[in-house]
Amino acid sequence: METGRSLLSRLLVPSDRLDVSPAGMLRIGGHEAGSLLRDFGSPLVVVAEETLRANYRRIRDAFVANWPAAVNVMYATKANSTLAIRALLSDEGAGGDCFGLGELHATTTGGTDPARVVMNGSNKGREEIAEAIRLGITINVDGDDEIDMAGEIAAATGREARLNLRLKLMPEGLDGFSAAFFKTGGTIREAVRRQKWGFTPEAASGLVRRILARPGLRLRGYSVHLGRFSADPAASAVVAAALGEAACRLHRETGAWPAMLDIGGGWPRQREPESRAPELNAFAIEEHAAAACGALRAALAPAGQALPELWLEPGRYIVGNASVLLATVGAVKRDAGLAWAHVDASTNDLMRIETSQSWYHLLPASRMDDPLDAELDLVGGTCIPSVIGARRAMPVLRRGDVVAILDAGMYAEAISNQFNSIPRPASVLVGPAGAEAIRRRETIADVFATHSIPERLRRAAGMRARA
Ligand SMILES: Cc1ncc(COP(=O)(O)O)c(C=O)c1O
Repeated sequence: METGRSLLSRLLVPSDRLDVSPAGMLRIGGHEAGSLLRDFGSPLVVVAEETLRANYRRIRDAFVANWPAAVNVMYATKANSTLAIRALLSDEGAGGDCFGLGELHATTTGGTDPARVVMNGSNKGREEIAEAIRLGITINVDGDDEIDMAGEIAAATGREARLNLRLKLMPEGLDGFSAAFFKTGGTIREAVRRQKWGFTPEAASGLVRRILARPGLRLRGYSVHLGRFSADPAASAVVAAALGEAACRLHRETGAWPAMLDIGGGWPRQREPESRAPELNAFAIEEHAAAACGALRAALAPAGQALPELWLEPGRYIVGNASVLLATVGAVKRDAGLAWAHVDASTNDLMRIETSQSWYHLLPASRMDDPLDAELDLVGGTCIPSVIGARRAMPVLRRGDVVAILDAGMYAEAISNQFNSIPRPASVLVGPAGAEAIRRRETIADVFATHSIPERLRRAAGMRARA
């Protein structure tokens, strides 16, 4: 009969640092789930340092092996903006993609080299642009007035503004893949047209000329981000070929040749909740890197120019499997032919279940050697149905058992919320250096820290509270 231990052995990917103690307790980065909860409280986000480092090195090496010019892997902070994660990746030499002043703060506080950072954003303000220019960060331009703002700031400060143009690419080949990943219905090209930012190559041509003509502005190249819409490397090749073709076209029309091309994020993993199914993806990152780099080089070749640097913006690939969310079982209810095990985490902490129908692997962390002979729904105790996993094979769970939700690193903490006024969990970094707190648990006071009651209502509220 299947147990948590045997299930885990089938799910493992090389960068996981998950195993099971002789007593049947899940260990993350060598630390037992039960003792982590005793030391840091429940629920708890547990981040494995060695997984983060291994993921960064693997994606970097995959692209370096396939691209004969310089490669800059920029961690997309939006996937998880925890400062310690950013600092650890800066320690590895990772560049950064940031969106807005908040992520810029995380990127600079996390010690990232500004020369390896891009600023994205479809509605950048003067403050963001000024800060990017001050720091020497490359701006992925996504609005034509950004060019004017950058020109004015460059003139006023005497600093050069480094600009990339973000491109919106809609090659026919996109429609060879399923559009199910997008929520707009229709084809992928239509989803890109509606949902993804950037300028079409037709629109970009005039903007390139504007940048070239303005003193203080340096055109670095082009960026594109269509995101993860397929786990098939052929999809990466379609996007890369379109980027190369657009660069050649803009070269013919304007004479400008890019010093760098930023091919964005969305790089899929083998075990990924966004696949919405338990099976592992068949393809590895090396196949995506080979497909994308091969297609890009082939598309650039006719121009006969020097190969640009290759920049990329992976978020989910680097942090996805680095975090495990540990939760403690509370009330277990059986009725109407169903069984529900409540835990102290909820979809507040895993919003992608609500927004993207993500499917997370769950493990009975404190009973990894018990047979998975029961079927239950694992639920959070909020007022919206907070179904973390429906009809899952588990041991018969009891109050106090520990459950692990895998792959909670990406777009989980970053978009968590406090619905039902529930404070958010703490995070802890685990690895050879021990278990270190990297984010404290929120308190109820934190939940209400930004609220105020006007004086005229205060007296009445105070009187009622005393009554
Ligand atoms: C511009 C841009 N770059 C990079 C990323 C990171 O994507 P992922 O986490 O899928 O790699 C995103 C995600 O939305 C993005 O919008």
